[in-house]
Amino acid sequence: MKILVYGAEVLGSYLAHALVRGGNDVTVLARGKRAEQLKKDGIVIRHYFQLKNTIDEVKVIHGLQPDDLYDLVFVVMKYNDFPSVLPILAENQSQNIILVGNNADAHGMQNFLHEKSIVKKNVIFGFQLSGGLREESGRIICIRGGGQLLLGGLDGEILIKPLLENAFKQVKYK
Ligand SMILES: NC(=O)c1ccc[n+]([C@@H]2O[C@H](COP(=O)([O-])OP(=O)(O)OC[C@H]3O[C@@H](n4cnc5c(N)ncnc54)[C@H](OP(=O)(O)O)[C@@H]3O)[C@@H](O)[C@H]2O)c1
Repeated sequence: MKILVYGAEVLGSYLAHALVRGGNDVTVLARGKRAEQLKKDGIVIRHYFQLKNTIDEVKVIHGLQPDDLYDLVFVVMKYNDFPSVLPILAENQSQNIILVGNNADAHGMQNFLHEKSIVKKNVIFGFQLSGGLREESGRIICIRGGGQLLLGGLDGEILIKPLLENAFKQVKYK
């Protein structure tokens, strides 16, 4: 599957790693120095409790154009970063948007995307059960048990559940 991870800090980087290991075609949207690190070195992760290191190559883009099409778009950032990204997502033709983070205004964000989008959007909310930090070098120290993303929607059933399961089916990630 063609997947975009929008936001490449600690959680976005680990999610992108899991999706690459799941056999997906993964692109990461990053800015500035982080984008340069990812292009040069890939996603470098120290899995703290697992006592292992991984490196994954990903495509890196700096911006999302309206006609860039992805099967899934994971947006991984702080709640106060989302407002600047929502208009860009609304103008993009990808339909399946998963907003991952804390304390977000779920109703406000979903209403915005439903009202402003050029295509019908499925909006899902996620919280990834991991943490960590990024070192100056760009290496992520990832603190987690098994990989896990809690997902939910405001309208009950998640219609794209099979698509989401498919993205992770080849990797140990819940
Ligand atoms: N880190 C943890 O241990 C942890 C644990 C639990 C929950 N969380 C929550 O999980 C979410 C993600 O955390 P995180 O630590 O991975 O990331 P983060 O510190 O929130 O970083 C967000 C990333 O998104 C990028 N970004 C923000 N606005 C953007 C925009 N308009 N266009 C393009 N890129 C943009 C930032 O780029 P720039 O650097 O260029 O601004 C940064 O790379 C947050 O809600 C956080 O509170 C984090």
